[in-house]
Amino acid sequence: MTLNEFQNNILQGIPKELPNQKLYEPNINHAPKRKDILSLNEKKLALRNALRYFDKKHHAILAKEFAEELITFGRIYMYRFRPDYKIYARPISDYPHKSIQAAAIMHMLSNNLDYNIAQHPHELITYGGNGSVFQNWAQYLLTMSYLATMTDEQTLVIYSGHPTGLFPSHKDAPRLVVTNGMMIPNYSKPDDLEKYNALGVTQYGQMTAGSFMYIGPQGIVHGTAITVMNAARKKFKTHEDRKGKLFVTCGLGGMSGAQPKAAKIAGLVSITSEINPKAAQTRLAQGWIDEVYTDLKALINRTKQAQINKEAVSLAYQGNVVDLWEMLLKENVQVDIGTDQSSLHNPWAGGYYPCGYSLEESNAMMAENPNKFKEEIQKTLRRHADCINNFSEKGMYFFDYGNAFLLEASRAGADILKSNGDFKYKSYVQDILGPMCFDYGFGPFRWVCTSAKIEDLEITDKLAEEVLSKIYQNAPEEIKQQLHDNIVWIKDAKKNNLVVGSQARILYADCEGRIKIAKAINQAIKTGLISAPVVLGRDHHDVSGTDSPYRETSNIYDGSKFTADMAVQNFVGDAFRGATWVSLHNGGGVGWGEVINGGFGLVLDGSDDAEKKLEQMLFWDVNNGISRRAWARNEEALFAIKREMERTPNLIVTIPNIVNDSDIEAIVF
Ligand SMILES: NC(=O)c1ccc[n+]([C@@H]2O[C@H](COP(=O)([O-])OP(=O)(O)OC[C@H]3O[C@@H](n4cnc5c(N)ncnc54)[C@H](O)[C@@H]3O)[C@@H](O)[C@H]2O)c1
Repeated sequence: MTLNEFQNNILQGIPKELPNQKLYEPNINHAPKRKDILSLNEKKLALRNALRYFDKKHHAILAKEFAEELITFGRIYMYRFRPDYKIYARPISDYPHKSIQAAAIMHMLSNNLDYNIAQHPHELITYGGNGSVFQNWAQYLLTMSYLATMTDEQTLVIYSGHPTGLFPSHKDAPRLVVTNGMMIPNYSKPDDLEKYNALGVTQYGQMTAGSFMYIGPQGIVHGTAITVMNAARKKFKTHEDRKGKLFVTCGLGGMSGAQPKAAKIAGLVSITSEINPKAAQTRLAQGWIDEVYTDLKALINRTKQAQINKEAVSLAYQGNVVDLWEMLLKENVQVDIGTDQSSLHNPWAGGYYPCGYSLEESNAMMAENPNKFKEEIQKTLRRHADCINNFSEKGMYFFDYGNAFLLEASRAGADILKSNGDFKYKSYVQDILGPMCFDYGFGPFRWVCTSAKIEDLEITDKLAEEVLSKIYQNAPEEIKQQLHDNIVWIKDAKKNNLVVGSQARILYADCEGRIKIAKAINQAIKTGLISAPVVLGRDHHDVSGTDSPYRETSNIYDGSKFTADMAVQNFVGDAFRGATWVSLHNGGGVGWGEVINGGFGLVLDGSDDAEKKLEQMLFWDVNNGISRRAWARNEEALFAIKREMERTPNLIVTIPNIVNDSDIEAIVF
């Protein structure tokens, strides 16, 4: 297809005449069939809802086709309307546009649907099994045509994938406001998602899928490397001590697949269990795992050898993780660090597989006998938790990896609670990312070069390295380790060949680092050193963006971790301080109803306006969360916010008075 044809395709939006029907391609990784949850009347409503996008003259044909999709897949994806052109992050100038900001959004959005990136591209799912960019192809087509025709005096509004339209606004307003899965709180239970998603009125946007901010596996490799490295540091101080130590986990999927690579960077022996052979083979082909075993005995022998030889090697078990844990126990293998990254945020729809069944048997049971499936999952979770308890008693360090493992295990009645009702184990945020990163303002800052040129990315790498190295020289001891790790990361970034899809980079930086890197990039665009605009963004999994009591805010101990004011305030505050787009989601990571999270995109075009916006917006985007964490009495956050107030006279944050425990203990109720 020529560039001109591609542009015409984008501009036409939903085609007036029906395109040919598309064959279902079995070699593509497809989403599992979803639960049949709608009543007959609701199924009719789902059809009426879907047909709203099309001219009446097509309704008879499409109604039949969509009904078939609903019966076969549990959702209406509108496969027929999947475009014929290849979707990927093209150079920004390829997108037809009247607003360069809107073109940058198209670049980002396309990356989320790239076949090399998306988990289930035909179902418009980027990662995590259900992280949707749109609910169906009509929404994609319509959104692209709106973006291609909108001006800087308009704002596009998207409700859970559905573009409600273009509304008059002004040049400093966001070009796009996205919400995903926002529900009346009482309708935020897992089955509500199944039902309202099947009706076509809501979707699960995960964090960066429905906000167009996914940058492929790099984001995860970095976050996972930081987590696994710091987990290992908690138990074994030096790199030498860590050699030959064993890390055991589950999942070689979208995010979880980074674990073996991260473990290798940390110098560990690792075993990752994965039940889906396709996922295991993908990671093997990428070189993220070194060896795959289906025979547990052979795997155990290889593991013991690697421990003795102190190898940094990533092994995988192709099978159920509980079979692995039970065998490790039986064979008395020394496990030093353990976690789990199956998709337990989505336990009843393919996120976690029960023991004793093949993948195919499980998928069939899930659709045909969901009650039995749930029973089997809970039985498996109880066995899983027993293994973790056993190894922990022998000294293993276990952390919950933000996938709702502890939550779902407790709901399954597993022995996972202390007598006071707390979980026996901490989450990776409570123990690692919270106190070491988020409370100081360090979080997953990222940028994307919309020229799609590697040379531009290399310039940004150099700029970021210079900025961080300069900050390091006068940094307080408290944040030196984080700065050091990220300087090493950015120096090696090119060598480690981390780019899949758009020319993107990620690192963890605090407020000062983020603003200084962004300014340096904006300046380089101004002088022509960088050839096209750069999009700034971040994972929602950050200091301020996410309220999630079992993950991002699990290290908030004043009772406010069940509130979501911070994430909502963040979304609003970013919007009026200059973000190009903002998004707010229900769900993401730990599951529907369990988290509210938000994020932004900010287009740097080398202008003075962009410089003003980045300063204001990034400052708020980090310090909002630090203030909240400080109010919760987190020492690290108190340190960071006091330091920021010294630097910024205009910042006046309410600081908590610390109460003496003896004054409280003396009170008799
Ligand atoms: N890496 C991160 O930065 C990060 C951070 C926080 C949370 N998470 C969470 O981690 C989870 C995983 O994310 P993902 O994108 O990798 O999801 P995914 O669905 O792509 O991958 C999970 C993998 O686990 C496998 N699996 C499930 N049950 C299994 C079992 N019993 N035995 C063996 N394998 C099994 C699945 O086949 C799948 O490939 C999610 O809940 C996500 O929210 C990830």
